[in-house]
Amino acid sequence: MATAAQGLEGQVAVVTGGGRGIGAAISQRLAALGATVVLCGRTPGPLEATARAIRQAGGRCDAAECDVSRLPSVEALAQHVESSFGRLDVLVNNAGVAGVRVPLHQFPPEVWDEVMSTNLRGVYYTIRSLVPLMLRSGGGHIVNISSLAGKNALPNGACYAASKWGLNGLSYSVAEELRGQNIRVSVICPGSTLSEWGHTASKDSKKMLLPDDVAHAVAMIVTQAPQSFVSEILLRPTQKP
Ligand SMILES: NC(=O)c1ccc[n+]([C@@H]2O[C@H](COP(=O)([O-])OP(=O)(O)OC[C@H]3O[C@@H](n4cnc5c(N)ncnc54)[C@H](OP(=O)(O)O)[C@@H]3O)[C@@H](O)[C@H]2O)c1
Repeated sequence: MATAAQGLEGQVAVVTGGGRGIGAAISQRLAALGATVVLCGRTPGPLEATARAIRQAGGRCDAAECDVSRLPSVEALAQHVESSFGRLDVLVNNAGVAGVRVPLHQFPPEVWDEVMSTNLRGVYYTIRSLVPLMLRSGGGHIVNISSLAGKNALPNGACYAASKWGLNGLSYSVAEELRGQNIRVSVICPGSTLSEWGHTASKDSKKMLLPDDVAHAVAMIVTQAPQSFVSEILLRPTQKP
């Protein structure tokens, strides 16, 4: 594989939504740093394709089907990670859905449930299920992929914005709960990023962030020296798309 700086040899990372988009870039970056990466998501095809690319580049990984909005599915993932690898050092909560772009008074209740169950409840489920293993491993990093929509108003995206504002509050609070136990919790808030995510025609895709820009921020966080941690990164494209 490419001779990227090695920094995570012997470590195990879980990346939710690791099959495509930003999660695939994060998985590839962590594997290039030497971690064994467990990619998870609901759809086997993209998970297996990304896992194949990582192995072809000389990395170590495992693809595991998991729906973060369902607690039994997340608990099964935690059992799989423990029985297969015996430890967990890095958890990247990347899985997310956007819902539909309409004013909130027209927003369908079932889509509200899907967005909140994935973007917010899903992070609670992974923390609930995987932090005990991380504690038994001696500590680690949790990196939550939020959004600039978790910092700003998002007209016609109030549910998504609420899920990400909630994720930021969850992240700051859990960081304080766990820092004394050697688990460092960070949140990354990217702006518009070029992925399979549906984008409005008003945005110039050539000016958007790339998934690898977010992966770079994750790599920076998880290779930080042990005496400090980066709480939050606001990641903006240089030119406004
Ligand atoms: N793209 C942007 O402009 C942008 C900007 C800021 C922040 N973000 C955030 O970045 C993260 C990744 O977004 P992306 O742009 O890479 O989107 P994407 O290409 O649509 O990828 C979303 C990923 O999440 C997974 N996922 C969705 N629901 C899931 C569930 N219930 N359980 C497990 N996995 C699930 C998907 O896999 P399956 O469908 O196979 O499950 C997929 O791998 C999201 O949290 C998003 O909010 C994106």
